[in-house]
Amino acid sequence: MNILVIGGGGREHAVVKALKKSKGVEKIYALPGNGGIAADAECFPVKATDLDGIADFTKSHRVDFAVVTPDDPLVLGCVDKLEALGIPCFGPRANAAIIEGSKVFSKDLMKKYGIPTAASETFDNADEAIAYLKTGSFPAVIKADGLALGKGVVIAQNFEEAEAAVREIMCDKVFGASGNKILVEEFLTGPEVSVLSFTDGKTVAPMISSMDHKRALDHDEGLNTGGMGTVAPNPYFTEEIARECMDKIFLPTVHAMNAEGRTFKGCLYFGLMLTPKGPKVIEYNCRFGDPETQVVLPLLEGDLLEIMQAVRAGTLTKDMVKFKKGAACCVVLASEGYPKKYESGFEITLPQTREDEYIYAAGAKKEGEKLLSAGGRVLGAVKTAESLQEAVNGAYALAEKIHFKNAYMRKDIGKRALAALK
Ligand code: AMP
Ligand code: GLY
Repeated sequence: MNILVIGGGGREHAVVKALKKSKGVEKIYALPGNGGIAADAECFPVKATDLDGIADFTKSHRVDFAVVTPDDPLVLGCVDKLEALGIPCFGPRANAAIIEGSKVFSKDLMKKYGIPTAASETFDNADEAIAYLKTGSFPAVIKADGLALGKGVVIAQNFEEAEAAVREIMCDKVFGASGNKILVEEFLTGPEVSVLSFTDGKTVAPMISSMDHKRALDHDEGLNTGGMGTVAPNPYFTEEIARECMDKIFLPTVHAMNAEGRTFKGCLYFGLMLTPKGPKVIEYNCRFGDPETQVVLPLLEGDLLEIMQAVRAGTLTKDMVKFKKGAACCVVLASEGYPKKYESGFEITLPQTREDEYIYAAGAKKEGEKLLSAGGRVLGAVKTAESLQEAVNGAYALAEKIHFKNAYMRKDIGKRALAALK
């Protein structure tokens, strides 16, 4: 079979590498892919949001199955468009991808179906939101309704910060139409857990849990980023909590989407906070997480293509989705300065990898035979091992062998998870 993977980050590289191991895969195309993915798939310069370009590509190349990985093409209806052309896809249709595409939609869904989440109010008028915040308590959480490149959440410590955030989002429109509405949400506390799950709208098969490290600097300081590293499993996500989440969050969400006529098929990502009052949903994503996928898929024992086809066909069973016993760690190598200004275009030298080591390319491009840095997050160094400690040590040992000018990494990925194990 010829498989098309849409997207071009570290997550897509992990998807491509896992699909390469699946039975029956002949060729993998990636649109646009990147310079590192090019070692594992044929890449073509078509943007993930260029739905017409993607459709044209499928007319000139035989594509038997497409995996739509990033949020924006899913929300724009890439799956609807390709399936109309007769190409079976992995990923939700637009009417289900809205679970990530609109935070107002997902909050209303949770309220209507009693799914635990932070209390919140919705506003479509900046003055009303500001008047409400004046009487509220802090910190308060302000969220733009639509997609905002992962930057649409502000934790305001006081009224002044809150007012500035509301004005930027709703009046200055820093995220465009995504800021036409906002949520003002109760501030929750507790460890965060990411749970990616496969679902065909009937069965929910959670993948191994993981922990993201979103801040740029050690000790969770500095600006929010797309993610500086991950570990799996997440030690806070015990079997007891997993059962509670299945009963109170995972199944109710899938059933709620069915009841709304928006059956979700694909990877449903639950961003959870384990609060003193129990697990609550912080966010839903309609796709694999990045960089969670980079630690989850190397531990998958099942056949990824078989699972994805079963999700599409509505024949998913839990025993297809099995994970190895051990643990994994991903350390992201970024360009110094990210997520603010940084330089790139520097040559990358990569070491040989062993079977339990993976290097996933995110912001990397090919120039002749050379691989050059070409983005904020450049690569992810991943190690799988029997224990989390070995995985963390191994990921750092691998990361130290990757070289490019101005490479930056956090030094404490996995530290909190290791402390929680003790
Ligand atoms: P999101 O983009 O929705 O993942 O939010 C980014 C980050 O903001 C989350 O990973 C949390 O750390 C934090 N966050 C979001 N909502 C809340 C909340 N209600 N209370 C506390 N922190 C939150
Ligand atoms: N790592 C968080 C996300 O993919 O949204």
